[in-house]
Formats: sequence, structure tokens, C-alpha cells
Amino acid sequence: MSLIKKIKASINKSSRNKDWPGLIKAYSNWLPVNQSTPLITLKEGNTPLIRATSLEKLIGKEVKVFLKYDGLNPTGSFKDRGMTMAISKAKEEGSEAVICASTGNTSASAAAYAQRAKMKAFVLIPDGYVAKGKLAQALVYGAEVLSIKGNFDKALEIVQEISEKYPITLVNSVNPYRLQGQKTAAFEIIDELGYAPDQLCIPVGNGGNISAYWMGFNEYYEKGFSTVLPRMMGFQAVGSAPLVFNTKVENPETIATAIRIGNPVNRLKANKAKTESHGLFDSVTDDEIINAYKLIGKEGVFCEPASSASVAGLIKNKEKIKEQSTVVCVLTGNGLKDSDCAINNNEATFHTNLEPQIENITKTMGF
Ligand SMILES: Cc1ncc(COP(=O)(O)O)c(C=O)c1O
Repeated sequence: MSLIKKIKASINKSSRNKDWPGLIKAYSNWLPVNQSTPLITLKEGNTPLIRATSLEKLIGKEVKVFLKYDGLNPTGSFKDRGMTMAISKAKEEGSEAVICASTGNTSASAAAYAQRAKMKAFVLIPDGYVAKGKLAQALVYGAEVLSIKGNFDKALEIVQEISEKYPITLVNSVNPYRLQGQKTAAFEIIDELGYAPDQLCIPVGNGGNISAYWMGFNEYYEKGFSTVLPRMMGFQAVGSAPLVFNTKVENPETIATAIRIGNPVNRLKANKAKTESHGLFDSVTDDEIINAYKLIGKEGVFCEPASSASVAGLIKNKEKIKEQSTVVCVLTGNGLKDSDCAINNNEATFHTNLEPQIENITKTMGF
């Protein structure tokens, strides 16, 4: 056999899953799609579940900790799970344009999927509070970006009203297809572990994702694909914690801009997930978020600050974690989206302005 043929043969035999079709096809029996639903996909889903041994040491009690790294979706966040569904269904229904309010990730995702569907995307964002990477994505994917002097909650009110009055589909998480797509992350966790985790730790903003996970865990449980239902543990930033304090927050503030939301539209659903699962909501400070962000980095995983609220919450609530149980922390967004946060919050050594001579470099390196 020629060398080329040998290499080709070894590639074909490798375990690389080149056939992943995207989550709609993979889980079509569980989703409200049919033969006439156009498949608008970027092959989202199938994201890694990574064992986090240094976090396990920190929690103790022989607890297993996994990170569901949903920042490895095509546009770098879990929103792609919901957006492949929302945009496919909007296309099926004949819509030509979509709109959303966004703290950044929804706009990036909506823009990308709308582009693939040859639809127009309008996105409303709060002026000055969207991480640069996310804004860059929305612009490159060709959305029309409208930045408002107001926060996310105001932007959501506006897009809800516009979508009622004009022929334009709302793709925020009030769109039920979003949660349908997002529930597949729960399926993937059970498919990979072979069982449902005992606890799921997840950052909460508008409350859509925690509700979607709860729906997914329940659907697998009801069909006998799992034998336990996880406790849903949702975490918000202390300056932006309407679900924790059961209130509206007029001026939410946190370094984790993705969850800077004061009036969650999915409040009822999120509360139901918490109550039915005997779970909890808790708040974490920005310092706790950044501490967790650095610890996740030490696992070789880079997430955005909002995502690390899941790990910050786990650490804060470690006394409540059952012995020898399994915890999955959801990392909702990729760290590259908010590089300013990364540059300003790390413990790495960064030498600058070095003279480019070997002796100087090696001396600086400590040799
Ligand atoms: C990175 C990230 N994590 C968490 C959330 C919160 O998700 P939800 O609004 O569904 O609670 C968001 C929402 O924008 C997000 O972008």
C-alpha cells in the first residue's frame, strides 16, 4: 500500500466523528421538526464534557466534576443550540427577518444563522456593555446592529413590541423553539456519561437555558434514558440577581455582561426548574466569578466570565454537594469573546519591551 493510501486508511479508521450532522438531525425525534423544516445548521452541538480534576480536589468528598464546554459551539456559545431551531422554524414559516435583544451572544448567533438562511437579522444591544468579540461577530455575520442607551431589559421590551407589530420573528428565548434546541445539551450529557448528573450548575440570566436543561433532563427521564433527575443549581451575579432575591433589578451590574439582566423573561419557568428539582438559586460576587474563571483556566479551558458563575456557585455551595456524586458545570460561552476581561484578570507572567537578544531572553526566563 502506498504511503498516501496508508495515511488515508488510518484517517478513516480514526475515531474522529466527522458525521455529526448538527443537533436537529441528531435529535430529530425529540424536536418539533418534520420533512419540510429547512435545516439551517452550522453543525452545532456535540460539545465536549471535560473532567475537571483540580475542581474535584477543591470540592472533595470524591465528587466527580465535569465541564460542559458549550463555548465550543460554532459561534462560541450555547445560543447556537437554540438558534438552529429558531431560525429553521422561522424559515419554514416563511419569515424573512429576525430580531433579538442581546447582551452579545444571542446577537452573534442570530446573525450567523440568519445569514445561512438568507434572512435579515436586526439586533438591539445595550450601549457599551457588549464584549467586543461578540459585537465583532454580529457585524461580520452581517446583522444590522442597533445599540441603545439602555440596558438589556429595555432592549427586550422594544424587540418584543416590534415583533408584535411588524413581520419579523423574535428569536430571544421567549421563542419556544430556542428552548427546544437548547434542551439537547441535557441529552448530550446523559448520552456521554451514561447517566444523569446529580447536580447541574449553570449561570442564569434570562432563565432560558436552565429551563431548557430541565426540559431535556425530564424528557430523557420520562422515556427511561436516565434514572435520576439532577438538582438544578442556578447562579447569578450578586449585582444582577433578580431570581435569587425574587425581585426586579432596575440597574443590574456585573463584570459578567452576558448575565447582566434585571428582569428575566423566563422567570416562571426557571423557578419551576428550581422548585421541581429541589435545586437552588444563589448569587456570586464578581470576585468569585473571576476566581472561578482563573481556576477554569488552570484546567486548560477558557470561558467567558458569565460562564464561570457556574463554577463559582459550585465552590460557594460545596457543602451542599452530595458525597460521591456527579456535578456538571455548564460553560456557556467561549473566553475569546471577552478578551479584555482575560487580559485584565489573569495570574500569568507577561514580560514586555524585552531587548531581542538570546542572553536577555534566557535571563528573563530564569536560566
Ligand atoms: C455566556 C452566557 N451565559 C449565560 C447566559 C444566561 O442564559 P439565560 O439567559 O438563558 O439564563 C447567557 C445569556 O445571554 C450567556 O450569554
